[in-house]
Amino acid sequence: MSHHTTPTRVVDPARHREEVESEASLRPKRLTEFIGQQQLKENLSIFIQAARARGESLDHVLLFGPPGLGKTTIATIIANEMGVPIHITSGPAIERPGDLAAILTSMEAGQVLFIDEIHRLSRAVEEVLYPAMEDFQIDIVLGKGAGARSLRLDLPPFTVVGATTRAGLLTSPLRDRFGIVHYFQFYTPEELAQIIRRSARILQVAIEEPAVQEIAMRSRGTPRIANRLLRRIRDFAQVLGEGKITLEITQDALQRLGVDPLGLDEMDIKILRTLIEKFGGGPVGLETLAASIQEDAGTIEDMYEPFLMQLGFIQRTPRGRLATPQAYAHLGIPCPGVSLQPRLEMDT
Ligand SMILES: Nc1ncnc2c1ncn2[C@@H]1O[C@H](COP(=O)(O)OP(=O)(O)OP(=O)(O)O)[C@@H](O)[C@H]1O
Ligand SMILES: [Mg+2]
Repeated sequence: MSHHTTPTRVVDPARHREEVESEASLRPKRLTEFIGQQQLKENLSIFIQAARARGESLDHVLLFGPPGLGKTTIATIIANEMGVPIHITSGPAIERPGDLAAILTSMEAGQVLFIDEIHRLSRAVEEVLYPAMEDFQIDIVLGKGAGARSLRLDLPPFTVVGATTRAGLLTSPLRDRFGIVHYFQFYTPEELAQIIRRSARILQVAIEEPAVQEIAMRSRGTPRIANRLLRRIRDFAQVLGEGKITLEITQDALQRLGVDPLGLDEMDIKILRTLIEKFGGGPVGLETLAASIQEDAGTIEDMYEPFLMQLGFIQRTPRGRLATPQAYAHLGIPCPGVSLQPRLEMDT
């Protein structure tokens, strides 16, 4: 009930439907344009050069991480840098083994097959994917029942780039088939500032450096949110100011948008408040917490918790979710057993 009436959340790390085009225009196309995730960039650059020099396809790549950190972007960059086409699909879109077979048999040599939400592949489809990834072979069943025959086809070498927000949901045989594995980290404010400056250049909007820093601090370590806030604030600057994004306009806009100094919004605050006020700070099971705020447990786990954990506000324990003294301090609620906490440094 609640999510139908909730207005679109400005700090939602998931992509909003109307953002497809604006994201494409801001999306880096080459590895050198991609900011942050230094380790991944350095490794990929070497693996790509080596594969190209040998005239081979790149090893399969698995990308883990919360929404909006650049998984799809990296997949498209890999294809660009390898100079090959990319076929984009997702776990739920490949319903039957035959769907995967159709994709695999129409691929070009070296091509990238990007499978988003790869943890949602069915077991039957996974069974077809394993030999395809390992030996570039696929067994196709012809006919039905007693007369059915199986035919083995050779495939051109190709690269699977798999992406998932849920590391824990991937089967280990699937995970083992990827030679290159990367866990995305939230971006530092300095990296986000670089992304914001780059995006402002592309959008051709003037922005003061203090405004860049302010947006960077409030973007939850997530490039998608940084770009979204920048676009919204640009509107305020255009209508209420003279077009230039100043610190004053930025702070005013973020307040109107309901984004607090750490980038938390009403829903984050609701999660923390419920945890503290209804469940004494926890530990409380995710399902119980979710039911209490009428939100889907998976949504909380994917969209809200990663950043609350990054801030050190929530801990996952075997017995459930726990609010930390920092969370109490941020909400200004006295924490039992802890003498007055100094406010977080990030808060100033
Ligand atoms: N390192 C980066 N440098 C510059 N821009 C970035 C970077 N990472 C992401 N972006 C921007 O953020 C947007 C979202 O990134 P992307 O779509 O790749 O995220 P994702 O991890 O695939 O998210 P989801 O899990 O929702 O699919 C991109 O359109 C791009 O503009
Ligand atoms: Mg994506």
